Amino acid sequence: MDPAEDRLTGPEEYLEANRALWDEWTAINERSAFYDLEGFKQGGVRLKDFELAEVGEVEGKDLLHLQCHFGIDTLSWARLGARVTGVDFSEEAITLARLLADELGLEATFVRSNVYHAPEVLDADFDVVYASRGVLGWLPDVPRWAAVVARYVRPGGFFYIHEMHPFLYVFDDRHDATEARVHFPYFPREERTELLVRTLARSRDRTLVHGAATTLAFVGTVSFVIDASRF
Ligand SMILES: C[S@@+](CC[C@H](N)C(=O)[O-])C[C@H]1O[C@@H](n2cnc3c(N)ncnc32)[C@H](O)[C@@H]1O
Repeated sequence: MDPAEDRLTGPEEYLEANRALWDEWTAINERSAFYDLEGFKQGGVRLKDFELAEVGEVEGKDLLHLQCHFGIDTLSWARLGARVTGVDFSEEAITLARLLADELGLEATFVRSNVYHAPEVLDADFDVVYASRGVLGWLPDVPRWAAVVARYVRPGGFFYIHEMHPFLYVFDDRHDATEARVHFPYFPREERTELLVRTLARSRDRTLVHGAATTLAFVGTVSFVIDASRF
């Protein structure tokens, strides 16, 4: 067993390790070319064209963004006229999101909460519940997360998710890997979700290196995620 996994004994500890990681990554992402925060401040939206087409008109709608990071996508929906609320468990991310909203003069509510506990601090419902790009892998219990999503979708509203295909995670992504080599199983062997413990030494923006941090990722198959989200 990986020594890091040995130290972390349950979902709450996994979540705490990931929260600390995202606090660290917020400062990195704030300065990264990938997020291009300075460009975002100049205007425009950072959403994909297919998201805009599929979600449709949001003017005047209530939109909840789960796991919103520091709010670039949330504030993009605000620029399109939605009344937005973002939830994330990273204190650093939520602090930055609030600063950004103030600086850009955009109306937005940002709530710091573990997504599993959001119903304890956010009592509302929404026309659109949105989550995107890199949210599922951090969750130790996808069905429980899907119940939170369902709690927030107003009758007549909908949930929209844009996520990476889990096949992406079968490859060896250690920094010394030189080829696309299958290293992790696609089909979980013992549990419905497979726990991966990785020690990351770099952010995705390769120009910014940060201290090694442990991250825990949970990989489910596409069918598992779809089954869990049938509500
Ligand atoms: C890859 S980011 C989402 C990226 C977002 N689509 C963007 O491009 O800015 C994942 C986010 O999930 C958040 N997160 C992970 N686990 C969470 C949890 N249990 N509760 C709340 N937020 C969580 C992290 O803090 C991070 O901001």
